[in-house]
Amino acid sequence: MILTRCAPLALVLALVPAAQAAHAGQAAVDVGEGKKLFQGMCGRCHGIDGTGDEGPNLARPTLTRATDDESLRAIIRDGIADRGMPRVRRMTDTELDQLVAYVRSLGRSPTATSTGNAQRGGEIYTRLGCASCHIVQGQGGSFGPDLTEIGASRGPSYLRQSFLGPAEMLPQGSSPVPGRGFSEYLPVHVVTSDGREVRGIRINEDPFTIQLRDTNNRFHSFRKSDLKQFDKEFGKSLMPSFRGRLSDAENEDLVAYLASLRGAK
Ligand code: HEC
Ligand code: HEC
Repeated sequence: MILTRCAPLALVLALVPAAQAAHAGQAAVDVGEGKKLFQGMCGRCHGIDGTGDEGPNLARPTLTRATDDESLRAIIRDGIADRGMPRVRRMTDTELDQLVAYVRSLGRSPTATSTGNAQRGGEIYTRLGCASCHIVQGQGGSFGPDLTEIGASRGPSYLRQSFLGPAEMLPQGSSPVPGRGFSEYLPVHVVTSDGREVRGIRINEDPFTIQLRDTNNRFHSFRKSDLKQFDKEFGKSLMPSFRGRLSDAENEDLVAYLASLRGAK
């Protein structure tokens, strides 16, 4: 059993260096099948070509978590709990091998990532006041998601969209999807019986009460029976759009800065 499973793999491993030398890395049948599997199962998050979207760009020579083939296998098999990477149910060992081979092949021909300048992007980040709502390395406001590791978990196109059109990328429908940062940030608008209006992000809700945090980071708790009006604003974002605020080159600088945020050094 083990032998029949390992033999073709050993063959592929033996072939890869030769194929690479001949600049024909895609020649192994294995990788082609892996590509199809990838496009079907992974493409919607990692981009059809693996360059990233809601999930990170995988066309990098070194992956942050999937440092070797073993950890790559484990990530595909088990997912990354609570971080929006689902585990794959029902996959044969052969398919797993094919996917691993394909993801590795992406890293051997890395695509040009952002053309921007991360340092200039960092200055733009400061100038636009992004830090009033986001924490990076412990600094900033906690209204929006922590961005300390955002470059490790999201691809460039997603990062660009996050500040050019935040509302457009919110998931449709109402049920919060675990791990999708965005859907955890549901805007709520309330008017109290004495006419006070508060808009903020839902922190917690039960049948009788709702807790929210406004953009000034103030915490509010209301009894629903005390409210004159209470709306959950699905599909809206309390993050302002920055479309039209920057030149195309500056947009790319900001993307490059966000992509460079990969956790503590
Ligand atoms: C629902 C979206 C989604 C799907 C589907 C998905 N992923 Fe992911 N994946 C993510 C997210 C989000 C992360 C980043 C998690 C984090 O923050 O570390 C990730 C991380 C990874 C990583 C780690 C990257 C690194 O830098 O170490 C690998 C490898 C990976 N995914 C491979 C795959 C493969 C292969 C498939 C298909 C079998 C797949 N993913 C399907 C969302 C997804
Ligand atoms: C008024 C507060 C506020 C400001 C200012 C703000 N954001 Fe956001 N941001 C949010 C909120 C809230 C979310 C969560 C998603 C949503 O509701 O749209 C978010 C989401 C994001 C995400 C996606 C995070 C993830 O986990 O997927 C990125 C990236 C981001 N913002 C970057 C920026 C950048 C860059 C700037 C400055 C140009 C900025 N934000 C300014 C509130 C803000």
